[in-house]
Amino acid sequence: MAAKIFKNLPGGLKMPAIGLGTGPLTDEAEIERVLNTAFELGYRHFDTAYLYRNEALIGRVLKKWFSSGKVKREDIFITTKLPMSGVHQDRVELFMKKSLENLQLEYVDLYLVHHPIGLKYFGDDDNRMEIDDFDHIKIWKKMEEQVQLGRTKAIGLSNFNKRQIERIIASARIKPACLQVELHVDFQQRDLVGYCHKNGIVVIAYFPLGTPGSKRFEIREFPPVINSDIIKNIAKKYNKSAAQIMLRYLLQKNVAAVPKSSNPERLKENISVFDFEINSEDMRSLDDLDRGETARLATFQSVPGIENHPEYPF
Ligand SMILES: NC(=O)c1ccc[n+]([C@@H]2O[C@H](COP(=O)([O-])OP(=O)(O)OC[C@H]3O[C@@H](n4cnc5c(N)ncnc54)[C@H](OP(=O)(O)O)[C@@H]3O)[C@@H](O)[C@H]2O)c1
Repeated sequence: MAAKIFKNLPGGLKMPAIGLGTGPLTDEAEIERVLNTAFELGYRHFDTAYLYRNEALIGRVLKKWFSSGKVKREDIFITTKLPMSGVHQDRVELFMKKSLENLQLEYVDLYLVHHPIGLKYFGDDDNRMEIDDFDHIKIWKKMEEQVQLGRTKAIGLSNFNKRQIERIIASARIKPACLQVELHVDFQQRDLVGYCHKNGIVVIAYFPLGTPGSKRFEIREFPPVINSDIIKNIAKKYNKSAAQIMLRYLLQKNVAAVPKSSNPERLKENISVFDFEINSEDMRSLDDLDRGETARLATFQSVPGIENHPEYPF
């Protein structure tokens, strides 16, 4: 079975359905090791963000790949994201250019508005968080300009809810190509996924493994779903790991995913999900694991005043 590739993106772009999440990686040696291992294992889709503060490190690795002839630019898919401090019509271009400079690229494949909320920008080393005025429609126009200027092939959204996406689509000249949101087998966001699919928007799951072991979510309402007996039993039946079942489940729902691993064995596991199919009975058992909103992990409570903002929750 060939690896799944989403081909319905603009400009003939092809996005491999499994990408490498680089969210928590900030150590230079580790990034180089993980990216090189991932590349050798067949990863061609890499997910970063201005917020992760690792674009420049990733850029150095990419530069080595291109200059050694290991891969051509057009054969890899790079996503990065406009940070909250760039969610203002006057700063989209500034942050787009910063990301390209960091990554040492002329263009990225996909540029996402990371969050539907904007913060004032006080400079890169100032961590103050004050919600700024922003207008999604004006921001989207600026995102469209980035496509016209050749800085990104496609544009999309992350962490936006259906109401926010509908509003953008109503006035967009270029529709969002993708939506990256938290999605795992116990948090399935079926309405949102259905809406995106109906509108030709490719959904990309972050936390596709439920981010087990993450220090940020030590206090959880439920134990990480990867440890569920139902998933373990299904995994045993297919001779696969629990992580592979979770990723395969998403693929069969036509959802892409960007799992992160620093471990070579797990990197391999996470991309080896194209040689089996979960049958409909087991898919139904996995459907039943959905706990809805109670299983959402990313609530962005660290942004002061977010809970009173009219765009929240998202
Ligand atoms: N758009 C957004 O707002 C947003 C927010 C958060 C994250 N993201 C993106 O999503 C990516 C993934 O998020 P995440 O890393 O927090 O969640 P995740 O991919 O669901 O989980 C990663 C965790 O699972 C472990 N793991 C990886 N493969 C495994 C396997 N086969 N078996 C068992 N454990 C495994 C990893 O540990 P090891 O490294 O030790 O294997 C790591 O602790 C990020 O890197 C980032 O690119 C986007």
